[in-house]
Order: sequence, then C-alpha cells, then structure tokens
Amino acid sequence: MNSFINNNTEKIFITGEKKLTGTVNISGAKNAALPLMALSLIINKEFNLSNVPDLADTRLMSNLLIDLGIEISWKNGNLNFNGKPAKDEASYDLVRQMRASILILGPLLASKGSAKVPLPGGCAIGSRPIDLHIMVMEALGANIIFDSGFIIGSLNSEGLKGGLINFPKVSVGATESAIMTAVLAKGQTKILNAASEPEVTDLANCLNKAGADIIGIGTETLIINGVKELNKVSHSVVPDRIEAGSYAIASSITMGNVEINNVNPKYLTEFINVLKFTGSKIEISKNSMKVSCSKRPKPHDVTTDPYPGFPTDLQAQYMALMTIADGETLIKETIFENRFMHVPELMRMGARISVNHQKAEIFGVKKLKGAKVMASDLRASMCLILGALAASGTSEIDGLYHLDRGYESLEDKLTNLGAIIKRSN
Ligand code: UD1
Repeated sequence: MNSFINNNTEKIFITGEKKLTGTVNISGAKNAALPLMALSLIINKEFNLSNVPDLADTRLMSNLLIDLGIEISWKNGNLNFNGKPAKDEASYDLVRQMRASILILGPLLASKGSAKVPLPGGCAIGSRPIDLHIMVMEALGANIIFDSGFIIGSLNSEGLKGGLINFPKVSVGATESAIMTAVLAKGQTKILNAASEPEVTDLANCLNKAGADIIGIGTETLIINGVKELNKVSHSVVPDRIEAGSYAIASSITMGNVEINNVNPKYLTEFINVLKFTGSKIEISKNSMKVSCSKRPKPHDVTTDPYPGFPTDLQAQYMALMTIADGETLIKETIFENRFMHVPELMRMGARISVNHQKAEIFGVKKLKGAKVMASDLRASMCLILGALAASGTSEIDGLYHLDRGYESLEDKLTNLGAIIKRSN
C-alpha cells in the first residue's frame, strides 16, 4: 500500500528492463473524486460515493470536510457523508497542502451564505491563479474580498443568483466551481467555454442524479437551472483515465503486454491514437484495453490540449516513452507554463532533451540507464517511474510525496505486472 505519511526519507527503487505482463485494475479518478467529495457540503441528505481512490489527496479532502463539520465514514473506497458544514472557515493547514481545496469555496458559500478559504498558493507546474474561480463566484452574486491570505466570500440578502459565465480560457477546476455553485443559485446560469473533461461530466451527472438541472453535459456550453435543494444520491466515481494511460505507457515502454481493466477507453481516444502511431498495439473493449509493444517506439509529435485533446496529465509519461523512440519528437505543452520539470531528471537517466519555453525536443536514445532522480510533481513522478522501468540497472526515485497524491497501490500494481520495485529508506 502507498503510505500517506510524507516521510522524506523513503524512496522507490526500481530495477528496470522487465517486460510488464498481466492485468491491472484501474482505480477511481482522483480528479473526479475531489469535486464529488466537495458536494457533501451541499448534499445534506444521504450521500454515498463508491470507487473513491485511497490517496493522500482524497484523505486530505476528507479531513478538510470533517474539519468543516461533515461526518464521513470511509470503507474500502465507499464513502458515506452525513451532516452539514458547521462553520464557514476552512483550515489553513489543510488547504495549503492541496490546490484543489479551492473547490470547496462555492459549495461553502451555497451552504453557509459565507466562506473563508485560505488562498491555496502556487504549485511547481506553474503559477496556477484562481482568478477564474473568483470570476465565477462574482458572476453568481457573491462579494469576494482578499484579506490576510484568505478569500472571504459573502452573499447579500438575495443569495446566489444565476448569471452568465463566459470563461476566457478552459479551466477544469473553475468549470467545476461554476457547476457546484450554480446548481443551488436562484434562476438560470449559462456557462460558455466550459471544460468537458470526463471528470467534469462525472460531477454534473452525479448532481443531476441528485435532482440538479444541468443541460449540455459533456459540451462546452452548460445551462443550469437552479433548484432549491439536492436529494440523496449514490454515485460511483469514474475510472482514472490518467492512471490507465500511465499503465498503457508502462506496457509499451517495457515492450510488455498488459490488460488494463476498469477503464473507459472512449475517454482516452486521442491518447490511444497517439500510442498507436508510436507502434503500440491496442485492443479496445468496452471497459478494458490491451496494450502491447514489440519494438522500439516510433517518434510522434504531441501538443497538449483541453479534452478531448491530448491530456497535459499524460505529457510527462509520454515524454518518458519518447526518450527511447527511434528518432526525434516535439512535445508542446499548452496548458501549464512550467510543466517540464521532469526533463533534467530524465536526462540523468541518459535521455537527450532540449527545452525551449513550452516546447521540448526529444532525441530518442536506444536505452536509458538507471539513476538517482527526484520527483517534482505528481505526473513527473510517474514519468520517472516509467523511465526507470525501461532503464538498465537500478534507479532510486526520491520525492514520493507527489506520487502518493495520485496513484493508488502503485507498487502492488506494478509488482503484479512483474516489475521489480520496492519502497524503502
Ligand atoms: C485540473 C486537474 C489537473 C490537470 C488540469 C488540466 C484536478 C484536481 N486537477 O487542474 O490534474 O492538469 O485540470 O487538465 O482536477 N487557470 C487560470 N485561472 C484560474 C484557474 C486556472 O488562469 O482561476 C489556468 C491554469 O493556470 C492553467 C489553465 O487555466 O493554465 C488550466 O487549468 P485548470 O484546468 O483550471 O487546472 P486545474 O483545475 O487546476
């Protein structure tokens, strides 16, 4: 099991060059689970979530909600929520640890009529502003001020009211904020240029099951007719497409043959097309996909884009694969301004990469060589794991805190596929 303690001395050791084979079951999506959990602030009847991954980030969200007064029972990926928020101020110590904490702002405002949420702060992959979340709250009638590191939101006597939200850029989190806040606002809200990621869709589907009135789910225009209250609901979190994509690359990069179960391949269409271009064989069925590869990958250029484009959350892992491609690959990152922190670490394993602003040119080498490397963020950690699985010799990966935020039972799953991996001091 992954450990949830941020124990700085622990590292992962991987001895590479083992072909991965067998079956892996994908967990529920962290990025869907986090906003779904925040719904417990506004669904005050029986609320049950299943397929919730047990990760540092979901534990943190759970603690944040418990601190606000929600009762949560957590058993094997099943969470039962009870009660209402007892206070409107979120804990600084918890919020500062996870940027996604900003997702509680709208639900707290809707539930309590006021909210005091610490600014979530920056992150290694870019400055990651929250202006679009604030724009959402103001468009729905909230007054927002910033004071001593807090976002302080209040409502006038009319409460939240529907409005027009025209996003200047696509944002997953801000779209989720808009949906969660608008469902209980008076009147109609129109959201233009909404994110249509499967995790956003999952949130909206759960809300509609609970009696919300959201039209246009899965498109970039959402119409939300506010309802007075939400009803009891049970919902299963959508499978983690990013985890599934990561294991697909683990199969390809080790010339393996892995069956990936509990995945919706439809949500990975662009990624699957790219992987096929590089020479991997992929057999798709409704809830699973088999990925195999028998020769060195072919290079194929990629540009990250909002869904349904190539996901930024698979960019680092894809780069690991291209480090051993038979030729040159160009990867453009368009979502975050600083998401190539894995590059110097991959180069320690012998990769040849040149970065110019948001473009990385990867000159494929025949083989990576195991090295001591440091993970800088969640997806970068997986990229280094993948590099280590393909490399000759043993690699030592430090900075596991990031990895534990997003990959459930990573060592168990990789060990089952034949990898030589262990965590120790
Ligand atoms: C979510 C995912 C993250 C993924 C990202 C893009 C969660 C918990 N995290 O992050 O894994 O990499 O989507 O698919 O679901 N932006 C602003 N102002 C804002 C908000 C965002 O300028 O108020 C910018 C960001 O800096 C970035 C772009 O919008 O350049 C997209 O970010 P966004 O989609 O909001 O990412 P997150 O929701 O934070």
